Amino acid sequence: MRIVCIGGGPAGLYFGLLMKKLHPAHAVTVVERNRPYDTFGWGVVFSDATMDSMKTWDPETADTIQDAFNHWDDIEVWFKGTKQRTTGHGFVGIGRKKLLNILQARCEQLGVELVFERDAESDLDFPDADLIIASDGFNSKIRIRYPEVFKPDLVTRPNRYIWLGTNKLYDAFTFDFRRTDHGWFQAHIYKFDDQTSTFIVETTEEAFEAHGLGKLDQDGSIAFCEDLFAEVLSGATLMTNARHLRGSAWLNFQRLICGRWSHFNGRSHVVLMGDAAHTAHFAIGSGTKLAIDDAIELTRQFELRGHNAQQIPAVLAAYEEVRRVDVARIQNAARNAMEWFEVVGRRYADTLEPEQFMYSMLTRSQRISHENLRLRDKAWLENYERWFARSAGLDVPDAGRAPPPMFTPYLVRGVTLPNRIVVSPMAMYSAADGEPNDFHLVHLGARAMGGAALVFGEMTCVSPDARITPGCLGLWNERQAAGWKRLVAFVHANSVAKFGIQLGHAGRKGSTKVAWEGIDRPLDGGNWPLISASPIPYLKESQVPKAMDRADIARVTQDFVRATALAAGTGADWLELHCAHGYLLSSFLSPLTNLRDDEYGGSHDNRARFPLDVFRAIRAVWPADKPISVRLSCHDWTDGGNTPEDAAIFAEMFKQAGADLIDCSSGQVSKAEQPVYGRLFQTPFSDKIRNEIRIPTIAVGAISEADHANSIIAAGRADLCAVARPHLADSAWTLHEAAKIGLTDIAWPKQYRMAKMQYETNLARAAAQPVVK
Ligand SMILES: Cc1cc2nc3c(=O)[nH]c(=O)nc-3n(C[C@H](O)[C@H](O)[C@H](O)COP(=O)(O)OP(=O)(O)OC[C@H]3O[C@@H](n4cnc5c(N)ncnc54)[C@H](O)[C@@H]3O)c2cc1C
Ligand SMILES: Cc1cc2nc3c(=O)[nH]c(=O)nc-3n(C[C@H](O)[C@H](O)[C@H](O)COP(=O)(O)O)c2cc1C
Repeated sequence: MRIVCIGGGPAGLYFGLLMKKLHPAHAVTVVERNRPYDTFGWGVVFSDATMDSMKTWDPETADTIQDAFNHWDDIEVWFKGTKQRTTGHGFVGIGRKKLLNILQARCEQLGVELVFERDAESDLDFPDADLIIASDGFNSKIRIRYPEVFKPDLVTRPNRYIWLGTNKLYDAFTFDFRRTDHGWFQAHIYKFDDQTSTFIVETTEEAFEAHGLGKLDQDGSIAFCEDLFAEVLSGATLMTNARHLRGSAWLNFQRLICGRWSHFNGRSHVVLMGDAAHTAHFAIGSGTKLAIDDAIELTRQFELRGHNAQQIPAVLAAYEEVRRVDVARIQNAARNAMEWFEVVGRRYADTLEPEQFMYSMLTRSQRISHENLRLRDKAWLENYERWFARSAGLDVPDAGRAPPPMFTPYLVRGVTLPNRIVVSPMAMYSAADGEPNDFHLVHLGARAMGGAALVFGEMTCVSPDARITPGCLGLWNERQAAGWKRLVAFVHANSVAKFGIQLGHAGRKGSTKVAWEGIDRPLDGGNWPLISASPIPYLKESQVPKAMDRADIARVTQDFVRATALAAGTGADWLELHCAHGYLLSSFLSPLTNLRDDEYGGSHDNRARFPLDVFRAIRAVWPADKPISVRLSCHDWTDGGNTPEDAAIFAEMFKQAGADLIDCSSGQVSKAEQPVYGRLFQTPFSDKIRNEIRIPTIAVGAISEADHANSIIAAGRADLCAVARPHLADSAWTLHEAAKIGLTDIAWPKQYRMAKMQYETNLARAAAQPVVK
């Protein structure tokens, strides 16, 4: 085959050399517009996994790169006058120039034709090529020629960064955060050869503008950065090697995804590779790794399917399919890390103590968890656990082992929870006339004995017509209150758990069948009239609700007050106001379901008016020493609906009204929703609200292991973690998760103690077993 790589960066060079090596009969040319030793940028970092696969594919290149690598294990964070360091992180760095020179030399050795100083205008310049690799970087002319084919999706990120270098050598991957009068700046610093370190400075657009950095030339920006980072530079200077860039050289990162990666131009097959196809933010330093992995995968597909021109379409299709998945995974992790740096100033830097700030930074991509940190640097993590436990009020000696963060106590008003795990409210549709029965006693009682700190009953409806289904629990009469009292008494007498009641009104989602007979479907008979903010049915076949008038608003407010007074009489410890999931109060908050033009519709203030009035009314009745949390749908997941920004505005209002915590859920407001599910998928909403609005939060949603909960609590992304479905599968989820992470110092119900040691021993034995492949 005749192969032309347009662009001699890591992608083009590495692909060229692999193909030539494996099939010397190929004619391979790499066309590069620069001279051999010209290059932008400073050092790049690699992962061990990429090095391993490079070793398999071409040990010669891998060994030379390995010899030139600078390896370091430590991360050091400079923040508010502190310097903190952890180890075990394993990075390797190399100068970009050095890397390219190694690849160029290997290409020459193998017989790849290298053509320098040729700026290829188009893929059509190479009509004889069977295969053209568009490895011409982010600004790829080849990709830009065919927007209809490649369908690039480009997002310009808000932060500004400048890529500089210095001759000061750092022995750790160093991050320095500096506050200015106009906002925070951060430097990402790493050594990549014996003389030089990369020094990337990043800030928000607002700080960039306010400091007039857009008006400065490169020397002006360097002088600014040298002054701001004088301490970490300790006399060293900064330098640029991007003189070719006009203006200030502060850039915005552009995230690129392509709808398709290959094209037939009538003569040759053209395929995107590396930065031409996708970009990943430098916050997790993976652009070069992705380029190399692309080159390896395309080569692998030729190896699998045959090195001839007839196979090219099948090879390109398989390459794209495989790489798309891996690239998406890295881009997701890079996005989390990138967003952390975008919000660090307004969200974390002024809120978190240096210790927790460091933890939050280390886990920013959400790919490094609590237990993963323990593997990397046990001493550091145990020290952090001690710090965390002490800030939660525990007395831990310096040499002592502190409980992991999810097992620290939490105090709110007069209630102390023994740990951070909550059994999330879950409708069971198993009541008659709204009365708790033996099912509820056994169901909630078992979960209370399972180790969680707070057990919520399901959404408890404040009147008969507030019910979702005829099977829902209620709290509008004394008989129901007596049933609740029995549950609360059982939980208090038989467990360490506190008991919470979630009050709600179904609104437009009421009068439906129990879940297993047709969730959200109207009853076949005996429907009751529905009310909502506006007369919009939930499903096409749902009843059209009446838009609430003032009398309805007054009645429902009183229903909530009556239910709260009854709840107070049960001895329950905690109340939650359900303002989520499209039910009545949520229907006022969302612009999708609230089309009112009176003082209850329109602005945030108006949409929140009724839910806030209800909140204030119940707060006045509920005992002052007991907390009330508010559950919000923090994202409607569809156009025109509430976003996390709106949720933050509502959270601020509830905070002002005296809410103790915001329980951060999402969705179920509109059938048009397109939620993006995944591990901890709602935790970012909790993180935002807790650290921007500065009100405690409960995170919920796909939190299914102790490691998740520990990571969330330790990083300050939430104060409590609510766990729902895993508690249906395992009533003793908390006790079992404790055993899985080796925490044996936790009380089981006295009747079950005989099982504890055996359970723990079996787990320990299973963990020690070699894995059979
Ligand atoms: C601030 C910053 C920090 C980064 N840090 C890291 C890091 O730590 N680790 C990491 O792995 N990655 C990092 N990257 C990303 C990394 O630089 C790229 O992802 C990687 O180089 C992609 O390789 P590539 O071969 O696809 O493209 P490039 O390296 O961009 O190579 C493209 C080549 O094509 C040439 N070219 C372009 N157009 C033409 C044309 N028309 N004709 C001929 N030649 C052409 C260019 O001159 C260039 O040599 C960073 C990027 C930035 C901006
Ligand atoms: C069977 C079931 C019933 C639920 N009922 C309620 C409810 O009554 N009130 C509420 O706020 N959320 C309810 N939810 C949502 C959960 O509290 C929780 O937010 C959601 O399941 C995500 O958590 P998970 O991933 O741990 O399951 C229910 C969830 C399930 C699975």
